[in-house]
Amino acid sequence: MMRIGFLTSGGDCQGLNAALRAVVKALRVHYGDDASLVGFVDGYRGLINGEYRRMTYEDFSGILTRGGTILGTSRQPFKLMRVEDETGSDKVAAMKRTYAQVKLDCLVILGGNGTHKTANLLRQEGLNVVTLPKTIDNDIYGTDMTFGFQSAVDIATDVIDRIHSTATSHGRVFIVEIMGNKVGWMTLYAGIGGGADVILLPEIPYDLDSVARALKKRADQGRNFSVIAAAEGILSKEEAAMPKKQLKAIREARKYPVSYSLAEALSGKTGQEIRVTVPGHFQRGGAPSPADKVLCTRLGAFAGSMIITGQFGCMAALRGDKIVAVPLAEVAGVSKPVPPDCDMIKEARSIGVSFGDEN
Ligand code: F6P
Repeated sequence: MMRIGFLTSGGDCQGLNAALRAVVKALRVHYGDDASLVGFVDGYRGLINGEYRRMTYEDFSGILTRGGTILGTSRQPFKLMRVEDETGSDKVAAMKRTYAQVKLDCLVILGGNGTHKTANLLRQEGLNVVTLPKTIDNDIYGTDMTFGFQSAVDIATDVIDRIHSTATSHGRVFIVEIMGNKVGWMTLYAGIGGGADVILLPEIPYDLDSVARALKKRADQGRNFSVIAAAEGILSKEEAAMPKKQLKAIREARKYPVSYSLAEALSGKTGQEIRVTVPGHFQRGGAPSPADKVLCTRLGAFAGSMIITGQFGCMAALRGDKIVAVPLAEVAGVSKPVPPDCDMIKEARSIGVSFGDEN
């Protein structure tokens, strides 16, 4: 009997259930009645505390389009994994204990960057892990794309599309704040897909005067509205030059999304009326898009084959049109920011999109 555990960890996204379903379908075809499935509640928390449910193949059926995760999720910071409790045991030891108690042969982990760091730790500790790359941020190294990203981009693009019509009617400037604290993939794709006039990314510190000039240029050209797509993690040039500690303190002291202070500052410079829209977690909600359902099914099927062939310690990843296994040692602790000189940005600049850094 093959015993396989499952957990989803970190911020949720579209496609978690679709990916779980595909892994389990592949296992069902191969193992039939010779597999036992265990679902850990709320990600690593369930593995740490020994909270799990015996699952059947049927539990993973009919969930292709369901949003969220049927297993629940939580954020368990990597930096706390090795912190000992009053008994001298840490979270890694607790997870190893649960793994052994449940007599698992392997653990399937669906998560983002932090999740992969912990998964790699478990691999180093001798656990058989197979991972799948989820996050709307698309910032996992080793895969061309994460699942959740395309669904969230669809939503963010729709927001920008809809803002366009009201911005045009009223002759207003709008800032649409898009998720992505450290990386701007969502903002870049949704900004281009939604035809934003200014795109601000964490990877390209902005100059307030430059953004104001871009807005003024449009106004001078007779365009009575503008749309700015701004990532939630944008940085001004001044902030980018600050010591990390100082910047962290500024960010933590913020009571409102960054776009509100940007709107105020820009309004002061341009005299224009500037409104803010923050779709927030709406971008992670609901059913996966068709493109994500395909990606999840491919990644899940491949992860199933990794379990069947005993290819542990790896992440199922998209490379070109192939799904491949990438060693966790290569993935863990590495991020995938938007390269500021990538073709997409050059192309957008060539059609007049401002990235807030032009002279
Ligand atoms: O990592 C996905 C993400 O949605 C980021 O884009 C965002 O910065 C963060 O999670 C929000 O986290 P939380 O759901 O914990 O508020």
